[in-house]
Amino acid sequence: MALPNNDIGDETRQVLAAQAHIWNHIFNYINSMSLKCAIQLEIPDIIHSHGRPMHLSDLVEALPINNNDKAKTHDCVYRLMRILVHDGFFIQLAEEGYLLAPTSRLLLKDETMSMIPFLNLQLNPNSMDSWHSLSKWFNNVSDDSNSTPYATAHGMPFFKYAENEARFNHIFNEAMASDARLVMSVLIQNGKGLIFEGLKSLVDVGGGTGTVAKAIADAFPQINCTVFELPHVIEGLEGSKNLNFVGGDMFNSIPSANAILLKWILHDWSDEDCIKILKKCKEAIPSKENGGKVILIEIVMDQNKDDKSYVTQLFLDMLMMVNATGKERSEQEWAKLFVDAGFSDYNIKIGD
Ligand SMILES: C[S@@+](CC[C@H](N)C(=O)[O-])C[C@H]1O[C@@H](n2cnc3c(N)ncnc32)[C@H](O)[C@@H]1O
Repeated sequence: MALPNNDIGDETRQVLAAQAHIWNHIFNYINSMSLKCAIQLEIPDIIHSHGRPMHLSDLVEALPINNNDKAKTHDCVYRLMRILVHDGFFIQLAEEGYLLAPTSRLLLKDETMSMIPFLNLQLNPNSMDSWHSLSKWFNNVSDDSNSTPYATAHGMPFFKYAENEARFNHIFNEAMASDARLVMSVLIQNGKGLIFEGLKSLVDVGGGTGTVAKAIADAFPQINCTVFELPHVIEGLEGSKNLNFVGGDMFNSIPSANAILLKWILHDWSDEDCIKILKKCKEAIPSKENGGKVILIEIVMDQNKDDKSYVTQLFLDMLMMVNATGKERSEQEWAKLFVDAGFSDYNIKIGD
């Protein structure tokens, strides 16, 4: 019920504002789920292929649905589009109809930087189940390195589950590959791939299905690139002239190279495990004087707290708590890890 503002006292106004604030948080999942539905109905692709603003009735006709009750479908698609317009995914022009908002380029199926695989991972019931186990897990928090909300929900740690469940393994690897495509496009397009220049060999530890290593191998044909991964992730994958795949466990040993790359690896693990991994990396590279280096692609927390990306940092940190035993780290926390693993020097390039 909306009351005119001047009819209510300050206390009532505060209660109603608090109620709206809490409601908006309770219902936040409706934003995610509406977006998921739009992707499942291929709405961004349909509007994009239309090539010009699309009327609601044309959109309804083009959807891959039975459309048994046209009037009801029309009304419901209108309401779905209304929230997605409000959320900034589409633009509604009064007469002409709907257009993609600039953000939605990343919601197209065939776009190199498409984020659809990432959405498919995060918004699937398997991933959501872990969040339902978060408070149960808090009841029994322990220093057992396998204890996570994910394991509370699924009976085993995340990477073990991926090893056992081929479908989940595929969804996870696709999600990682989609992020890797976006990050490598940005790095290479902006000349930031120069961090790789001059290397003769590089091992991408935990390199998934090889998207990052392939981008480096293509851009720098003189670098011999190796993807070092758990065997179930790289099963059946074939390399090329300067790209190969090696199965193994980074806690045991890592193949030698001039440089080791770790993208989105250390944030999965506790400080103790990160130190073990970093020590294995150190064993695998030459000394700093002889050009050895470890390159991390990770988040640095607490930078630009006013920036929109700060909330993303908070979300990803919670995700690491729920799915893994890791966390997102501040510069001080990163520096401590490097020192504790025996490195004498580090250099952080933020936003580069
Ligand atoms: C968050 S993903 C990052 C994938 C990739 N680096 C990227 O950013 O696209 C972490 C990766 O570490 C791999 N991994 C987990 N435990 C590992 C281990 N003990 N040895 C090698 N790789 C491992 C997983 O299979 C997974 O592909």
